Amino acid sequence: MKTVFLPHAEPLRILAVDDDAAMLRYIHTLLELDGHRVSTAVSGEEALALLRGGLKPHLMLLDMMMPERDGMVTLAETRRDFPAVKVVMLTGVSDTHQVVAAMKLGAFDYVTKPFRKPDLDAVIAMAQEKPQGPIETVEELTDDLYFLAASDATRKLREQAGRMALVDVPVLLLGESGTGKEVTAHLIHKLSSRAGKPFLKVNCAAVPAELLESELFGYEAGAFTGAVQAKPGKFEQCQKGTFFLDEIGEMPPQLQAKLLHVLQDGTFSRLGGRTQLKCDARVLAATNIDVQSSLQNRQLRADLYYRLSALTLQIPPLRERKEEIPLLLKHFMVRSAERLGRPILPVSPAMLVACHEYSWPGNLRELGNFVKRYLVLGDEESALREIRGLTSAGQSAAVGGLTEGGVAKPFAQDASEAVRLARALEDSRWNRRVAAEQLGLSYRELLQKMKQHGLTSEPDPRVQRTSAGR
Ligand SMILES: Nc1ncnc2c1ncn2[C@@H]1O[C@H](COP(=O)(O)OP(=O)(O)OP(=O)(O)O)[C@@H](O)[C@H]1O
Ligand SMILES: [Mg+2]
Repeated sequence: MKTVFLPHAEPLRILAVDDDAAMLRYIHTLLELDGHRVSTAVSGEEALALLRGGLKPHLMLLDMMMPERDGMVTLAETRRDFPAVKVVMLTGVSDTHQVVAAMKLGAFDYVTKPFRKPDLDAVIAMAQEKPQGPIETVEELTDDLYFLAASDATRKLREQAGRMALVDVPVLLLGESGTGKEVTAHLIHKLSSRAGKPFLKVNCAAVPAELLESELFGYEAGAFTGAVQAKPGKFEQCQKGTFFLDEIGEMPPQLQAKLLHVLQDGTFSRLGGRTQLKCDARVLAATNIDVQSSLQNRQLRADLYYRLSALTLQIPPLRERKEEIPLLLKHFMVRSAERLGRPILPVSPAMLVACHEYSWPGNLRELGNFVKRYLVLGDEESALREIRGLTSAGQSAAVGGLTEGGVAKPFAQDASEAVRLARALEDSRWNRRVAAEQLGLSYRELLQKMKQHGLTSEPDPRVQRTSAGR
């Protein structure tokens, strides 16, 4: 007789879900033999009803192929509403594609059917071993700014940020547009000993080159025409605080040299001033450009880069941590509904799946904006249509990129191109370089297409910024 040896194994509460009654009985018998407490459900609906009714299984064994609400959809809903439940998918051998999707959606593991006792034992042992750990943590950084971590990748990022917070040297934050560089900078500030002091930021791409220097370092009266009164710069205002230099790659090279100097000896002077001022701000810098190529074309000074990059944090794109999508959707929904003073709308299983299939080139910002649009329009059908349209547009764009045909596009496609351009621009806050990258176009091509579709940039933020700043 075979002895089943489960080292320090606590019996688990297990919910088995399968439309096949014989399969359910089989699982039930196998698991109860080992002392687990087993509940069963014959459909996704029933499983979710049990969870809503207060059943708290450690583990859910979930059949992938069920009529009506299939396993994938049930998985998505479980991840959204009961993230503490570890879900193991029961799949057919040929479901590779679906297995991959399920794992990305946050399934704990999978077992292929037909399976035998040892297969089941292996996943259960894993579920017992792997400590539960926090499924999601949300930290409020400032008013309306949150850091949510719901994947291993983001938890690791959170941990690294925590360690970097303790060392008082610059950090370079790298990552695509909308991945959370600014949020992470806030997080580092909040976890550092400078937390009670100011967090100031300058976006080097949004301030015109000729104003950037005075914005950073301030000026004395008479330093230039129009400088009637002396004005301190951001560095000076950032006493003992953290200074976030966003889009550092857009800083003019001479100014990069001046910044390097400040980082090296900790002093600077206002424009037109002689007094040496002490800089005691910690600098965090961010960029979404490709560092290697901007070093090569000297857009980014190598000496500044090496000074800034002793500590580097690379923030992964959303498509590499898709298991966070259900929780992020819920997070954005709750926060945006609150802010907009609107009722929370349902995030349906169909929506979860559609969101999961899309690649989110604009990352978390795009997802957040999508939720806002859905909230404002209040119409799930059109939200679904939008996201599915983007998914297939992305797919056909990828194909088009390969064939590179010069065929004239029908009007409808043309219109959707305009929409895609507009969205990419909006999601990158009209940063054309970033938008072009997202769209897989060259900068020049994007400008051409913008002209062709009559897309002009929103009112120039520079104009607003400088006039409002006075
Ligand atoms: N970990 C996170 N948890 C919750 N919200 C997040 C997280 N990361 C990013 N966000 C949200 O996503 C949006 C974009 O984040 P952020 O502005 O930090 O991106 P970014 O990398 O600085 O983008 P860009 O390069 O375009 O400036 C913000 O609305 C932010 O609140
Ligand atoms: Mg940013």
